[in-house]
Amino acid sequence: TIVVLDFGGQYNQLIARRVRDLGVYSELYPNTVSAEKLKEIQPKGIIFSGGPNSAYVEGAPSCDPEIFELGIPILGICYGMQLLAHQYGGKVEAAEQREYGKALISVENESALYEGMPHEQSVWMSHGDKIIEPPEGFQVDATNPNCPVAGMSDAARGLYGVQFHPEVQHTDHGDTFLKNFAFNVCGCDGEWTMENFIDIEVANIREMVGDRNVLCALSGGVDSSVAAALVHRAIGDQLTCMFIDHGLLRKGEADSVMETFGEDFNMNLIKIDAKDRFLNKLDGVSDPEEKRKIIGNEFIYLFEEEAQKLTNMDFLAQGTLYTDIIESGTDTAQTIKSHHNVGGLPEDMHFKLIEPLNTLFKDEVRKLGTELGVPDEIVWRQPFPGPGLGIRVLGEITDEKLEIVRESDWILRDEIHKAGLDREIWQYFTALPDMRSVGVMGDARTYDYTVGIRAVTSVDGMTSDWARIPYDVLEKISTRIVNEVKHVNRVVYDVTSKPPSTIEWE
Ligand code: XMP
Repeated sequence: TIVVLDFGGQYNQLIARRVRDLGVYSELYPNTVSAEKLKEIQPKGIIFSGGPNSAYVEGAPSCDPEIFELGIPILGICYGMQLLAHQYGGKVEAAEQREYGKALISVENESALYEGMPHEQSVWMSHGDKIIEPPEGFQVDATNPNCPVAGMSDAARGLYGVQFHPEVQHTDHGDTFLKNFAFNVCGCDGEWTMENFIDIEVANIREMVGDRNVLCALSGGVDSSVAAALVHRAIGDQLTCMFIDHGLLRKGEADSVMETFGEDFNMNLIKIDAKDRFLNKLDGVSDPEEKRKIIGNEFIYLFEEEAQKLTNMDFLAQGTLYTDIIESGTDTAQTIKSHHNVGGLPEDMHFKLIEPLNTLFKDEVRKLGTELGVPDEIVWRQPFPGPGLGIRVLGEITDEKLEIVRESDWILRDEIHKAGLDREIWQYFTALPDMRSVGVMGDARTYDYTVGIRAVTSVDGMTSDWARIPYDVLEKISTRIVNEVKHVNRVVYDVTSKPPSTIEWE
């Protein structure tokens, strides 16, 4: 195991994830974790993450000083390195020039971290402070004109630091840095797999739950399905899945969920039809955040109501992913959108939560699902947001608008499937902007809705690019939508990446 200590950077979980990709188990812990706790975990290495603070300011986040005495190798990244420097008596200062983006560094001295790498290389920087003097006993590994200490190390004490971010893809040899640290410095063997993750989580869930019962919010999407399969693996019939049809699902989805989990998996599965309840609550509401909160809250209230009808339900299992948490804002990261499952939770929840996927990224969840024997059809189902079509009908939601999104989405999915593009395109759907425009059909003027097509490629949903769907496929989709879906006279294609857009339109 390599433990990542969280000092508040946006992409900290990404560090843990990249290390797991190397076949080394890695988990993120708050920077306040005690040395005692780390002794229990017995990590082979510790990584200090980046963060928004200045190491030399009073009260800047630090860690249990005993951690430095454990004799476990430490790699400090960005703020993490500055903290190391500060701790060991080096000098950190605000730089005259902040540095964001690509930068060239040159390797100055031999260091285990830079093994097998070119003398000059391109890295990703993002910092306002810099080290101007490394602590005693440290050598400068790499420099750059803006940043005299781009990397430093004290091999004897197993301490390493880099100013740049090896975890982001823009750092050319990022993986090699992490590999060199994990394998050469810490002596990890790279044999960890998803199967180990299952063993660990199954044991955790069993210990947490004991002989009590778990209710699972099954939506039929990848996340909740894989969460349910994992919890089912751990506790079998102590798990009851509840599938709430909030009336905001895609065409055909409710039936397929009932079939797959009720019949094929033979799980305890209860279906609740709550379309009217949700639509009533949403009546006249057009603000996206408000809609998200209403749907999220209603979901939990309904669960509580229905759970009370069952006996002894103590836990609620949810398929919350790491990306849901980070984008909903953590103590340090900003709120982009409040994701269903997170922002929607009322304060007075009566359940204890089990969120076994909350350290994972989407592609890791897919791997996990396959490992658990979840069929491809579900594992490769494109992500679908908790608030469903409720955030794809922009503005106020009506039955008519939902029908337009549902039917146009069905056509889009059908044509993407026929073109064999399902796996290439990470997510594709239609959205209905709250606008109408003029058209002509059969010699008559129309004044009808516009349907937007959104199709993106992505690895984890954190960033995305618009998918280059061939024109002839787009043509078929567009023609079918205006012909087959009533009240649509125009189809547009969204060609923005994330950032600056988000994937969903609300
Ligand atoms: P955005 O729109 O934030 O979406 O770029 C990133 C990914 O997350 C999905 N998404 C959600 N998933 N609950 C979820 O479980 C939500 O409230 C939610 N909102 C967005 C979105 O479909 C995309 O895959």
